[in-house]
Amino acid sequence: MVKIGNIELPDFPLLLAPMEDVSDPPFRAVCKEYGADLMYTEFISTEGLIRDAIKSRQKLDIFDYERPVGIQIFGGDEEAMALSAKIVDATQPDLLDINFGCPVKKVVCKGAGAAVLKDVDQMVRLTKACVDNTSLPVTVKTRLGWDERSKNIEEVAERLQDVGIQALSIHGRTRAQLYKGEADWTLIAKVKNNPRIKIPIFGNGDIDSPQKAKEYKERYGVDGIMVGRAAIGYPWIFREIKHYLATGELLDPPTIQERVDACRKHLQGSMRWKGEKLGILEMRRHYANYLRGLSHVKEYRNRLVNTMDAAELFSILQEVEMHYAAV
Ligand SMILES: Cc1cc2nc3c(=O)[nH]c(=O)nc-3n(C[C@H](O)[C@H](O)[C@H](O)COP(=O)(O)O)c2cc1C
Repeated sequence: MVKIGNIELPDFPLLLAPMEDVSDPPFRAVCKEYGADLMYTEFISTEGLIRDAIKSRQKLDIFDYERPVGIQIFGGDEEAMALSAKIVDATQPDLLDINFGCPVKKVVCKGAGAAVLKDVDQMVRLTKACVDNTSLPVTVKTRLGWDERSKNIEEVAERLQDVGIQALSIHGRTRAQLYKGEADWTLIAKVKNNPRIKIPIFGNGDIDSPQKAKEYKERYGVDGIMVGRAAIGYPWIFREIKHYLATGELLDPPTIQERVDACRKHLQGSMRWKGEKLGILEMRRHYANYLRGLSHVKEYRNRLVNTMDAAELFSILQEVEMHYAAV
């Protein structure tokens, strides 16, 4: 069993990575169904939370069926972090996660996300502001360092543990790498093998198959794995990894019925949570992923992204199911 504060997770938990514009409640519901053990919201700006921006507030929405679930925040100001920790606390998720890994300019420019990797003292202050203002377990997600010459994750892990975080997820890239190249898990393993480190260490970066999950589990010895991109349109990745770790055998891929069914549920959830119009619009980015690999699927995909009519969408999905079940 892996424990984060008083949250009990199964042995070698599989985490759904926080992903902006992706890991919203409708997507999380599908990932939960197929085996994600711990999930996070999209990152939420502390500035937005304090301003009471609608977009930030909406990201706080969590539901009992998805527990355990963490709310992720980012920011570069101690006071804003402290206030946001209080807001998150009142929302009662299972944990509060801090993002010190986001590489995008608009975040880094404000001294938040991965920018904080350049100033570990500041990172400790921002983290302490959260720890001191919530009764929830606080966790952190970050990268190996700012760039190739400043990979400071070993120091970061010790200092953050000392200030009270209860788990650390590490994406095996630097900020400078963005998403390029291959994630390097060797430093993640070093953090995990540091005898001073007692908190769970979760590895993240490029896990896209059950075989890779098993190989990385064994080679790097982490306490669990966080999966991001591979789960987009393919939430079965969680159950496939679990099955392979437990039995050494590969599960059959989802049937066309399962694929269309998950897509349908995602669409229904999206319309319910965001309202019909926005739900339909935002679902458009997901069809290609749910239908990936099906031959000559372009025509269906085009129709799915060109209608605003809910009944028509479900009818096209029905057609897809029938067509591909027959081939
Ligand atoms: C579309 C997208 C949005 C992301 N948004 C966030 C975010 O809000 N917070 C965060 O900590 N990481 C974010 N990430 C990074 C992922 O959580 C993860 O660290 C990264 O994708 C590497 O894992 P993977 O190779 O399994 O995808 C995002 C990644 C993607 C692709």
